[in-house]
Amino acid sequence: MESFKIKKICCIGAGYVGGPTMAVIAEKCPHLKVTVVDINEERIDEWNSSDLENMPIFEPGLKEIISKVRGKNLFFSTQIAKEIKESDMVFISVNTPTKTEGFGAGYAIDLKWVESSARQVAKYAQGHTIVVEKSTLPVKTAEVIKEILLNSIKNKNCKDYDKTFSILSNPEFLAEGTAIQNLQNPDRVLIGGEDQESINYLKEIYMNWVKSTKILTTNLWSSELSKLTANAFLAQRISSINSISAICEVTGAEVGEVSKAVGFDSRIGSEFLSAGPGFGGSCFKKDILNLVYLAKFYRLNEIADYWEQVIKLNNWQNRRISQLIVEKLFGTVSLKKIVILGFSFKANTNDTRESPAISIVNDLLENGAEIKIHDPKVKSKQIMKDLNLSFNTKEKRKEFGSWDYVSDVYKALENADAAVIVTEWPEYKKLDWLKISEIMRNPAWLFDTRSITEPSAIKETSINYWSVGNGSLE
Ligand code: UDX
Ligand code: UDX
Repeated sequence: MESFKIKKICCIGAGYVGGPTMAVIAEKCPHLKVTVVDINEERIDEWNSSDLENMPIFEPGLKEIISKVRGKNLFFSTQIAKEIKESDMVFISVNTPTKTEGFGAGYAIDLKWVESSARQVAKYAQGHTIVVEKSTLPVKTAEVIKEILLNSIKNKNCKDYDKTFSILSNPEFLAEGTAIQNLQNPDRVLIGGEDQESINYLKEIYMNWVKSTKILTTNLWSSELSKLTANAFLAQRISSINSISAICEVTGAEVGEVSKAVGFDSRIGSEFLSAGPGFGGSCFKKDILNLVYLAKFYRLNEIADYWEQVIKLNNWQNRRISQLIVEKLFGTVSLKKIVILGFSFKANTNDTRESPAISIVNDLLENGAEIKIHDPKVKSKQIMKDLNLSFNTKEKRKEFGSWDYVSDVYKALENADAAVIVTEWPEYKKLDWLKISEIMRNPAWLFDTRSITEPSAIKETSINYWSVGNGSLE
């Protein structure tokens, strides 16, 4: 191992995590050749597209980095075997969804992609290879990967006598919409492992731009559990403030004022205290369910119940918004035109995974509404996939509503009965509600599930108004 030096790294999984993470590593480490591989050819083609607007993911600051390093020391490829073979370090950043069938369905993480990636590394790696878990994984997954890798060496057909592996856990803490910022200036980098030498190799990569005091090293299991815990704590704060939002609405307190007052306490801090339609995104729900599964597995049922409540509250918050919309529109939305503003799970991303918009729209469709959906970045093809419905499903089910994708908010609001702000896109803060009040059908409603509009501005119009944590102005 003496001559071992990291020159080439590869990442399996060109998704929301693998793509931006490798782009920033390539930018900060011009001496390294970085290749991102994926089984999805279409995705790789999109990453290689000359049209930077056509990237598979939208992330502020990403296309600038891609235009600088792609083709120089950053590559996107489907040649998985070749790239693994040539790499000194392989990151695994494939998707890890919650299992839908079999043991642990609904809670446990489906490790099939991680396992198949480990098998590919086991088969194609040459020489010494450091394998880095980047995906969020259940505690003790490194054990599974280790077993697969070590068995490949023990296999009597294995002729690569110099083949050795070590495994590290290096969870990502990037939030979509600010991923590039989080990668370039992380709060901390966490590296878990048993082999100090390998830890140092990975640490050296990050030290090209991150201060060593921000790089924490732990054992493998602490690293894996820290990721789940961080996400559980963040999600818990959101459920906590959402629970308070409902109390605000009935008491006359204003949730924005409460979270500001609470967040000023330096022990609490001001972040992740915005009430909303419930958290979405690919990680929070999945990671908490995983924590619940782990607790149940070790018969720690009180702990499982404690964390499960964070999800139950989130579902409740989400559901109560669609119920409230129906209630305010005289108990029926059948044939009423409702404009949904925002479909992504938060602003500045085109990601819709677990977006609260999906269930709100589904509930309203179930109740017969005519929905118009606007989002600055999400494409109609994606919405169709998420709703699992083509446009105008009315023909199939009599009472069922219909939906349409719109690109002009003002046009969509003509004769609309209600507008619902689901995602806090900055452009929705600038809408001219006075102008809108003249084109909507009366009595018109604005439901602001993110509390981003100025109540005093709406008061000047004829529009009825409800916002999360503030209640109604009629
Ligand atoms: C994923 C996980 O969901 C998350 O838990 C983890 O923290 C990071 O990795 P993300 O990058 O957002 O997050 O997932 P996704 O955008 O779905 O990308 C995963 C990619 O892996 C896909 O492009 C998929 O085609 C690819 N993949 C999957 C492989 O290349 N090989 C496989 O065997 C399986
Ligand atoms: C999260 C974690 O923040 C990140 O560290 C981890 O690696 C992946 O999961 P992400 O899901 O991309 O990142 O976005 P995040 O900003 O955490 O928001 C998650 C959800 O919570 C969004 O739906 C957002 O709208 C919601 N949210 C966030 C609130 O409702 N209120 C808040 O105050 C903050």
